[in-house]
Amino acid sequence: MRIGFHFVAAAILLLTACGDDRREERLRAAGPNPSLDALLQVADADAGARKFGVCAGCHKASKGAPDFGGPNLYGVFGQPMGQHSGRFGYTAALVEAGGRWDAPTLDAWIANPRKLVPGTNMQFAGIGDPLDRADIIAFLKRQSD
Ligand code: HEC
Repeated sequence: MRIGFHFVAAAILLLTACGDDRREERLRAAGPNPSLDALLQVADADAGARKFGVCAGCHKASKGAPDFGGPNLYGVFGQPMGQHSGRFGYTAALVEAGGRWDAPTLDAWIANPRKLVPGTNMQFAGIGDPLDRADIIAFLKRQSD
């Protein structure tokens, strides 16, 4: 089973390298059944930048970047929903939702956009992992003036 062993060892090394965001350590620090606030205390914007990869097919999040399938998200943190990009054609559902992109709203949106705003056309199933969402929120918060 030499080949098998080497294969498994290589796979474990690869997983460790990809998942090196101090996840377990951060979750321990956040405590059992952590609230969103507790997760945001341990959130990591750099890890969030990597996890933003699942959004990047539709969104940029850098200053002056254009809209793609979705609006540029630079500076969206704290802004009213559906108004941040003057050029983007938002759905009426999002514009009329009337909320603001604070951390709890972003958390609910990233978990399940269509549950937060029925009628949105953001075609995204959602991210189930609360720490992954907190990391992405920390990244979006950082991407602003
Ligand atoms: C398949 C394309 C697609 C993907 C993937 C996607 N989005 Fe979107 N996103 C959209 C579209 C389209 C809208 C506009 C929705 C509307 O008008 O109802 C939007 C809107 C948003 C808004 C509201 C912006 C504003 O100006 O009000 C936020 C915040 C957002 N997306 C975050 C994310 C994040 C974070 C991810 C990844 C976890 C993500 N999106 C993944 C297409 C996408």
